[in-house]
Order: sequence, then structure tokens, then C-alpha cells
Amino acid sequence: MTTLEGSPAVRRLTAWEPTRLESLAGEYGTPLYVLDLDRVRENARRLESAFPDAEILYAVKANALKDVLETLHGEGVGLECASAGELTRALAVTDSGAEVHYTAVNPPARDLDIAVEAWEAHPELTITAGAEDTIDRLEERGYDGRLCLRVNPGIGAGHHEKVQTGANAKFGVPAERAVDVLADAADRGFDVVGIHAHVGSGVSSDQLDAHREFVSRMGELARSVTAAVGDLEFLDIGGGFGVPYREDEQPLDLEAVADATREAVGEVDVQLTIEPGRYFVADAGVLLTTVNTVKDARETTLVGVDAGMTTLLRPAMYDAYHPIRNLTADSSDTERSREETAQTIAGPICESGDVFCTDRKLPESERGDLLAIGNAGAYGYEMANQYNSRPRPASVVIDDGVARLARRRETIDDVTSVERER
Ligand code: LLP
Repeated sequence: MTTLEGSPAVRRLTAWEPTRLESLAGEYGTPLYVLDLDRVRENARRLESAFPDAEILYAVKANALKDVLETLHGEGVGLECASAGELTRALAVTDSGAEVHYTAVNPPARDLDIAVEAWEAHPELTITAGAEDTIDRLEERGYDGRLCLRVNPGIGAGHHEKVQTGANAKFGVPAERAVDVLADAADRGFDVVGIHAHVGSGVSSDQLDAHREFVSRMGELARSVTAAVGDLEFLDIGGGFGVPYREDEQPLDLEAVADATREAVGEVDVQLTIEPGRYFVADAGVLLTTVNTVKDARETTLVGVDAGMTTLLRPAMYDAYHPIRNLTADSSDTERSREETAQTIAGPICESGDVFCTDRKLPESERGDLLAIGNAGAYGYEMANQYNSRPRPASVVIDDGVARLARRRETIDDVTSVERER
């Protein structure tokens, strides 16, 4: 068993070394994503230790950086992909379809073409369909490979209604139809290997009851499918393991989740598969940003920074809380100690929703200060975009303690060069 010594259940923003981050910001500029691959490995090992018998896949959508995929592949973790782009990235890293799943959600035709082509080169690839139409469309393309069915279990959970999938009509075939759909697929020559569901993202300890109910329904379904259609290879219960974003929030008790999962699945002769994304990478990443404007607004101090909702969308999209730290105030011991004031930290995008926090107590900010936004490793860069023609930031990784540039900063030319030249 892997040793977990020195691997806390959560890495808080306060645990990052300010001078190290300052020097990275100095070298690569801001806004800058920094991702510690050593912490990604620790997170993988904690998951492996809690779920020793499960197959563990990484939901690539949380952070698709090649360095992350290589790191997790190196840890023996498989890759779950949500699009042809993620699938292409995953196969470039693993060079085998055996540990790769493609979960097709209303897949565009081009995605299915690419997935079937990938299967021809890597016949051990697993494709998970969430609609009967998807199965028909795979058949039309000549696919008769490994097929998993995503079901809709009718139970959702997660940190925000926009990420609760388990009862949302968009995802999966209603669980009560699964036996018929799989029996039909088996008759048509597909290699039926598994069933899948994902209840939602950011499931916390206080939602353990929903998790239990969800997993027990999936165990029940696995038994029905096995009896009616034949043996299944795996039961994939998705991802969703929450991480603490607030400073006083307790980490998920992974062992308790694993115990509850085993108990709720009950007796069933299939491999349990889990596919978390956030848990691997969230606390391994920070976003560095520089203060460019400080002004007294009517009721608050408005602090303008060079990252915005185009860099980290989660606060604007889900009202998500991210811890924020003023690294300059923390690291300069010669300076007077700074008073804490209520600050609203906002980005450079022309939208009033472009704020990271409102009236949060932080040491007084000054122009030029470097701030760190914590827990930015999951769904940070992945959801970044070029709104307002703003180039996406650079990403640096720390690997075995050594930092290197993993992805360069985009330029305005990168943003405009795909347009037709006149
Ligand atoms: N498997 C499937 C089929 C999924 O749809 C997802 C996430 C996962 C696994 C991984 O879930 P995780 O372990 O990362 O919670 N952008 C949102 C999260 C959206 C998650 C979508 N699906 C956020 O920033 O909170």
C-alpha cells in the first residue's frame, strides 16, 4: 500500500509558500495558474487507499493539461473523457484505449466520428452512451465495441443546482429502462460491459444519504442487468467527491464515503469504478493575479485585478467561494502590518458579475500586490475563455518540487488569428 504520510486530506491556501509564488509570478507574469503535480499524486494516492478495489478514472474535464494526464496515468489512474477533444488528449498520453472511457453527452456527429475512429485504432476503448439515439448512431458508424450505458438514477446532489446531474433529463437513460436498452444492445452485437451514472459534482459529507441512496439504486440495477442481460464488467458510479473551499469547511471523510459505497452497492459481482475529477486537482492549483486598481466605492473598497471571469468562471457562474490571500502583505516582513478591510475583488471584464468576492475581510490591498486565489486547480483553466478578446493565461506546474511552464500565455494574436484575413 502507498504511504500517505505527510499527505493532509486538504491543502489550504495558507500552506502555499508566498515567496515561491511571488517568484513564479515575477518570472511568468499574471494572471497565472500554478498547479502542483506532487499534490495531484498525493490526492490520487489517498483515493487509491480509500478505494483499494475500485478502478479509478480521472474525469479529464476538471483539468485536461497534458502534464496532469501524464501524472495520473503514471499513477495507474484511467481517464474519463467528455468530448472528442478530451479523448484525443487521453489517447495521446495513454496510447491504449484500455484505461480510457468516452462518456458521450448529446454527442455532435464529429465527436462520434472521431470516437469510432479512435476505437478502430484502440479496440479496448469503452464508450458510454446516455441515450438510445447515441447507440443507434454508434451502430450506424459500424461500432460494435465495448458499450456502457449511462442511466439517470433520479437522484441529484452537488454544490449547486447547475452541477446536479443525477435527476436532470439531459443525462442518461431513465434507470427503469436500462435493462431493455441493454438487452437490445446486446442482441445487436454490442459488447455490453457496464452501467454508469453520475449524481453531481461537489458532493459534501452532509449529502452522504443521497450518495447512499444513489449507490444502492445502482447496485440494484447492476443485479437486474446481470440477471436479465448477462455479466457486467463494471459499475461506474461517477465522480463528485467534494473538496472544502471555505477556510473552515472540513474535508470529505473519504473512508466513510468508501464504506458507505461498499455497503450500499451490496452483493454484486462487478468491478466498482469511480471517476472523480475535482478531488485530484482542486487543491493542487492556485491562480495568481495582480492588483491594478484600488478605489473607495460607496459601500466597499473595490479592488481591481488582472484575472477575471474569463480566467476563473466559477464565482460568476455558481457563486462559488474561493479563498483569497494577499501574498505581498503576507511575505513582506519589513512593511507595516496591514489592517483588514472589507473588499470587493473584481476582474477587468465589462460585466457586473465579474467579481471573485464581495465585501470580504482581507489585508488592505495596494496597487501592485500579488493575490492568490485558492482551489483553482479544478474547472479553472478548463472553463477559461476569450470573452472581451482576452487571451487565456499561462500555466506553470511544479513537478518533484521543480517549476516549469506547462502552457504559454495566449497572445492577442492567438485570439484573432483564426479569423479570415481580409
Ligand atoms: N463523471 C461525469 C460523467 C461527470 O459529468 C463529471 C463532472 C465527473 C465525472 C467529475 O465530477 P467531479 O468529481 O469533478 O465533481 N464546472 C463545475 C463542475 C461540473 C462537473 C461536470 N461533470 C464546477 O466548477 O463546479
